[in-house]
Amino acid sequence: MNASAAVAAAVVPAAGRGERLGPGAPKALRELGGVPLLVHAVRALARSRAVGLVVVAAPADGVAEVVALLDSHGLDDKDIRVVAGGATRQDSVRLGLAAIPDDVGIVLVHDAARPLVPVEVVDAVAAAVRAGAPAVVPAVPLADTVKRVEPNPGGAEPVLDTPERATLRAVQTPQGFDRATLVEVHAKALAEEAAGGADAPSVTDDAGLVERYGGTVVVVPGHEEAFKVTRPLDLVLAEAVLARRRAADAY
Ligand code: CTP
Ligand code: MG
Repeated sequence: MNASAAVAAAVVPAAGRGERLGPGAPKALRELGGVPLLVHAVRALARSRAVGLVVVAAPADGVAEVVALLDSHGLDDKDIRVVAGGATRQDSVRLGLAAIPDDVGIVLVHDAARPLVPVEVVDAVAAAVRAGAPAVVPAVPLADTVKRVEPNPGGAEPVLDTPERATLRAVQTPQGFDRATLVEVHAKALAEEAAGGADAPSVTDDAGLVERYGGTVVVVPGHEEAFKVTRPLDLVLAEAVLARRRAADAY
């Protein structure tokens, strides 16, 4: 692969603990079909001709381990860099962004925890940024009705209202950005935090930062197989999806 303005670089935040998945190795290193989630995710990105470079933000104490892991899965011949991630996902993305060469104009951010994203989604997001959108997120309609509540964990929670389901989307990754836009909103968020703006609402995705600072974000179709492995049941589903793919490939 070859990093240049024409192709995108991908940042893969992989420094989380995976607390909701339960005890065990950091989530990105947990296995799916005998292969770490991170390796699946990096392969999914590397498969896209739109992606020229992948920067992995590894657990800060696990950089050498992640380098060795990628090597051992045959990813050493690609343009892949590993940096130390941070305390939050936002920190990890910012640290990954800092490792991207200046001439790269498009950045995709993809969770290590979404190992099965189809290459078509990666391509579609990159194409939408290339076509001029400063921020692009893949998303799918919701199956469940959603209610907004007054949070009271473990107890009864008063319902505030019910957004109309047809207007809601569950967003996935890779999210794609004009590089300058993404760098700018991450810098602004960091400055706001340093200035004590801890009461700013927490943002769980990069497009959310673009929205916070007034940028335009568009949604393109995501894919049900781009789901995030968050809880133990997600790993069961991921194993089933992988088994189905492997069976299909055998024919
Ligand atoms: N992530 C990261 N650095 C952090 C926290 C999260 O790079 N300090 C990454 C995770 O590795 C994951 C992605 O962000 O690939 C999405 O986060 P999430 O699904 O919340 O993963 P974890 O934070 O690992 O899981 P949990 O919240 O259950 O601990
Ligand atoms: Mg988390």
